[in-house]
Amino acid sequence: MNKPVKRIGVLTSGGDAPGMNAAVRAVVRTAMDQGIECIGIRRGWNGLIHSDFVTLTPSSVSHTINRGGTMLYTARSKEFMQPEGRAQALSTCKLLGLDGIVAIGGDGTFRGALALSRQAAEAGMDLKVVGVPATIDNDIGCSHYTIGFDTACNTAIDAIDKLRDTMQSHERCSVVEVMGRHAGYLALYVGIAVGATAVLIPEQEVNFERDIVEKIRRARLAGSTHYMVVVAEGAGSAIDIGKQIHESIGIDPRVTVLGHVQRGGSPTARDRETASRMGYYAVMALAENKGNRVICTKDGKMMDMDMEEALQMVKPFPMKRYEILEALTITNSSRK
Ligand code: F6P
Repeated sequence: MNKPVKRIGVLTSGGDAPGMNAAVRAVVRTAMDQGIECIGIRRGWNGLIHSDFVTLTPSSVSHTINRGGTMLYTARSKEFMQPEGRAQALSTCKLLGLDGIVAIGGDGTFRGALALSRQAAEAGMDLKVVGVPATIDNDIGCSHYTIGFDTACNTAIDAIDKLRDTMQSHERCSVVEVMGRHAGYLALYVGIAVGATAVLIPEQEVNFERDIVEKIRRARLAGSTHYMVVVAEGAGSAIDIGKQIHESIGIDPRVTVLGHVQRGGSPTARDRETASRMGYYAVMALAENKGNRVICTKDGKMMDMDMEEALQMVKPFPMKRYEILEALTITNSSRK
């Protein structure tokens, strides 16, 4: 069961994230360096079910490190959640002679990878899977950092800085909704970086009077004539929050839902560099005959860990950052 890995597949699955291409590039080039062939599986797990693949060479990933999106396309596969779909995927693995897979994506992608590897083992196949965390939500329990988060933060910051210019000119209140699924990392980091008046995140229970009305009042008392409210999509709808602000304070906020713009764009230095290292570590794990692993970062170090364990981990919420945000968003007058 422990033959050296000769040919691997690489795929991107779930929501795309800037830096996925850099990770694919690193997988392809590290594989080549290790004498391992690499096949690109297109459209996530669906590609494995439907034999949708492309041969990748070091030159076919040239000039991709700077590109957002994913050159392999991505999808969320319902078929793959069923044993029949995974059986079909295993047939494709056999057909292509794959003995390893690098799956780049979020926790849904890793759950799929683990289910596939278990089904492969039951069928007597030696298929090793390694996950690379990539999602703008930064919500993977085992890893401090996920590919795409930094770029998404910068995209949101850039948009909010622009909104601030016009809000300042018109002396308005802006309510901006950022992505993050059920997590508030994006809103928290962005809120700190733009100096928001108020930030709502799902990890903290929202008290509208305390968390918004009071903060706007205090900012107003301190002399501010424009206000920036950042709402994580998991904490509520910016449209509803805007209406509530109008009803309680009488000001007429402008609402912006940043949406999928946060998923695009050329990856930042941090995302290119992290993705390149994660791709390298993923192939090295396979080259060392390790399977069911996830690449993760912890205290600035990169490592691989057991996939099942990784999937059970809950990311500790950065409470200190929330306290800092609170300290910085409450205007001086509130402390008197
Ligand atoms: O997980 C990434 C993410 O962008 C979330 O922040 C968001 O909730 C979701 O995907 C949106 O998914 P879709 O692309 O299906 O609209």
